[in-house]
Formats: sequence, C-alpha cells, structure tokens
Amino acid sequence: MTRPKVFVTRIIRDAGMNLIREVCDADIWDGNMPPSREVLLERVRGVDGLLCLLTDFVDGELLDAAGPQLIVVSNHAVGFDNIVVADATARGIPVGNTPGILTDATADIAFALLLAAARRLPEAERYLRNGKWKTWEPSALLGADLAGKTLGLVGFGRIGQAVAKRAVGFDLRVIYHDPTALPGFGAIKMNSLNELLREADFVSVHTPLNESTRHLVNADFLSRMKPNAVLVNTSRGPVVDQAALFDALKTRQIFSAALDVTDPEPLPLDSPLLTLENCLIVPHIGSASERTRNDMSRLAAENLVAGVMGKKLPHCVNPEVYGDRWFGSP
Ligand code: GLV
Repeated sequence: MTRPKVFVTRIIRDAGMNLIREVCDADIWDGNMPPSREVLLERVRGVDGLLCLLTDFVDGELLDAAGPQLIVVSNHAVGFDNIVVADATARGIPVGNTPGILTDATADIAFALLLAAARRLPEAERYLRNGKWKTWEPSALLGADLAGKTLGLVGFGRIGQAVAKRAVGFDLRVIYHDPTALPGFGAIKMNSLNELLREADFVSVHTPLNESTRHLVNADFLSRMKPNAVLVNTSRGPVVDQAALFDALKTRQIFSAALDVTDPEPLPLDSPLLTLENCLIVPHIGSASERTRNDMSRLAAENLVAGVMGKKLPHCVNPEVYGDRWFGSP
C-alpha cells in the first residue's frame, strides 16, 4: 500500500516527527530558516498533507500548487492567521491547529512579562551589568505594585482565563472585555473596551489576529489607558500599532510595555522600540517550554496523520468542510 505523501516545513520535536514518519512518506525541510515561497510552492506539489509553521503563509496559490489530492493542512500553532482558512475551506481542505496544550505556557509568559515590566527587571539587570549598582538606593528602579491593582484582559478565551487564574494569587482584581466569553475565575466582564482601559493598571492582550483586531492597540487605545499602566502582548504582533506604542512609551503616556510578539518577526534590530528602557521584548517564546513544544508537535502530527488517513482532524478550525459526513461513533 502506498504511504501518504506529506511535506513538513521544519524539523519539529521527535514526538510529532516519529508519528509522521511511522505513517507517511515525509519530505522534511531541514533548514533552520523557513523555506522560501519558491521552495514551498515547489515542495508541496503532489503531497497529500502539509504540516506548516506560523512562519509559512498558506493561501489558495499554495494549495493549488499542491494539487487536488491535498487533503489536510496542519498548523503547528494554535493561532492560524498565517493561513487563509477561507481558501482551504473553499477547496474542502480541513485545517488543523494545536489548542489547549499551550495555554499554561503562554499564560506563564504573559505573567512573567507583566511582572518583569512592572518591576523593571530588564532595566535593573542592565543597571547591574553596566556597573551602576553602587549601593542599596531608596529611590532607584522603583516599579509598580500588583496587589490591589486591576488587571484588564482584552480577550477572555483559554489563555486569558489562565492569566486570570494566576492573577488571583497576586491579589489583582481582574476585569475583561470579550463579547462572547462568560465570566470565570472571579473576573468581571466589562461591556466596553473603554471601560476596561479606564480601570486597568495592567492590560494584557489575548485576542486572535484578524481584521477587527489588527492595530486594536493604536494611539487612541493607548491614550485611554491609565498614565501608569503597563501593556502586555502575547497574542500577535500586528494587534499592536508599534509606532503608536513607541510614542506612548517615549512620552511616558504609559509606564511600560512587554511584548512576546512583534510586527514583523523577527523585529529588526533598528526598531525604535529597542531604544526604550521601558519596553521589554522577547522573541515569540510563549509556547517555548519542553513539554509544550513536544505536545504541540504531537498534536500537529495527529492532525496531519488523521487527515491523510481520511479521518476527522482532532482539532479542526474549519469543521464546516465536513458538512454532514459521518465518521463513526467517537
Ligand atoms: C503561537 O504563537 C501559537 O499560535 O501557537
């Protein structure tokens, strides 16, 4: 029996790689950098399944280059803004993602960033390394307290809720704005974003990237934040208008910001944001823990393998492609 042909756009953790190799005839891009568009267009030709990363742009052109036998696209990420899902749906191709397993790791990073930006950790470390630490100073490197303050979550899905859970232990009052989410973990629903921005001392963004959230954090948003507020973004870079953020930080309109995601990625080293003491930036490491990346690779592989075997994907972002096809009892 011929094995399904798949293209995997990067070497992923063994948990996933082994599963793919067991079942499929896998062509694996082994470069450290993502394959170029030309390489992608070439290597997908004739495959039954594609496992891609958030660094690969998947649209109708790529799906057509693969050919009509392509029956699954599996994204090694929970976010799927790198894929034009409507193009996949129009061709009847299910798209898989990796929800759930990276919730805690991403919430941990959001909280680490919040604490680091509030207490000026990167700045304090630079202070030490640059030989400025001469004595214990009553007024040096003073940051913001958490206890008794308000954390505003923009987006209250799995990750937002996991951040709320952590916030309880820090005596933060938690409010959120998300028209579709129900309250949980003691968080209070705000009917409007304005209301949230008026009250929050810390604002953490947990929305997907789409046309309604692109540049959601713009000059107007930032001007509505409290003067000493801290912004944290672990969602997607383009949710923040970085030029507006630079102005707000430079003029101390807000206290500080901490970003795990930027626009573009990687952030060019001449980005004005990197000249600011009150802006902490890390290179999209929200899910970068040993266990989480192993689990992501396994889940992405399970989606891929299910797809090429003609089964329903365990995690599918466009289940409408199945119509009322019946897959047997669960
Ligand atoms: C990471 O950013 C992901 O979406 O999985």
